[in-house]
Amino acid sequence: MGGPQSPGGPGLARALDAALDASVVGGFSRLGYLLRRGVERWGPPPGIPGANAVVVGASSGIGRAIAVGLAAAGAEVCLVGRDERRLAEAAAAADRARVAGSAGSAGSAGDGRPARTASVDVTDAVATGAFVRRLADEHDRLTVLVHAAGNLLRRHTVVADGTEATVATHVLAPFRLTLLLAPLLRAGGGRIVTVSSGGMYLARLDVARLDPGPAAYDGRRSYALAKRAQVVLADLWADRLGGDVASYAQHPGWVDTPGLASGLPGFTHLGPLLRRPDEGADTAVWLAAGGALPERRGFYHDRHRRSLHRLPATTMPPATAAAEAAALWGFCAERTGLGADT
Ligand SMILES: NC(=O)c1ccc[n+]([C@@H]2O[C@H](COP(=O)([O-])OP(=O)(O)OC[C@H]3O[C@@H](n4cnc5c(N)ncnc54)[C@H](OP(=O)(O)O)[C@@H]3O)[C@@H](O)[C@H]2O)c1
Repeated sequence: MGGPQSPGGPGLARALDAALDASVVGGFSRLGYLLRRGVERWGPPPGIPGANAVVVGASSGIGRAIAVGLAAAGAEVCLVGRDERRLAEAAAAADRARVAGSAGSAGSAGDGRPARTASVDVTDAVATGAFVRRLADEHDRLTVLVHAAGNLLRRHTVVADGTEATVATHVLAPFRLTLLLAPLLRAGGGRIVTVSSGGMYLARLDVARLDPGPAAYDGRRSYALAKRAQVVLADLWADRLGGDVASYAQHPGWVDTPGLASGLPGFTHLGPLLRRPDEGADTAVWLAAGGALPERRGFYHDRHRRSLHRLPATTMPPATAAAEAAALWGFCAERTGLGADT
């Protein structure tokens, strides 16, 4: 289903992919995307006419490109973000892609219903609950849920309920939304895709440090910790949600977005080495469209399953890792009031 196929044989493709991945800069930059796509002759993601998708963080950057890619593949997409003007612009782009079938996915051109928008701050439990109720009134199943909302903050910032904004946005909001949408996901044999980051390779899971006070706050560290927690949560959802729900995490590489420019301005010096948003979105769209099935879990980059660790310091003995993962679930359940018995 649009997966890796190399004209030089699988051995050459594997060797190139491994060399790019080991180099970091080669693999994470646009070079990695272009070389892998070319050598492995990626096709468009599978067409998914009749599917429905919720994409959180769809008003900008990678999430917007994922929404456009899913619309082009034939899905009915609901774009979620906070900024209504940018959401409307992104929905219009998704509709153009749907009509044009611009990703070229087989049988998808013009299929699917027009894109919809929902202006929801997903760190707000009340607004999120109301959004889920509206969705459940109109749909009896959900095929795809994408978590792409994110931020990299320099200063300690809190959301309305007092939680630090990085953990609120990347960890607790996806947990709440996923648990609330679990019945619809189970009914549709749904697929969850979480947009994590290569930055997660710098952190080991450490639940006690997920919500530091202002004195201990370090924006990059909090971001890396939250992105590591996302990968662990994605795996826990694959284990615990049941109903054939697939749950993947992936990292997009270095992508030219408003979020990168504001969160990591030094990266903008990479210029043409940065991926375009649609390139950073490719693997998320591919996973959401079922490209990795029958595999139903895992951490991916550029359509390949990837290692969870690059640094010995982030690894833990299996029993410790399992206990810390259970502690992460407990932290999320306590903060959201959901999932204690899931
Ligand atoms: N760019 C990269 O190189 C890169 C690399 C690795 C990982 N990532 C990850 O990719 C994801 C997308 O990042 P990006 O670079 O595309 O950033 P971006 O352009 O700033 O987009 C971020 C999106 O998140 C939404 N969002 C943030 N907080 C929200 C909230 N509380 N409720 C609802 N929506 C919220 C924003 O919506 P509004 O603006 O409407 O509020 C926006 O649509 C993030 O998870 C990021 O960590 C990016």
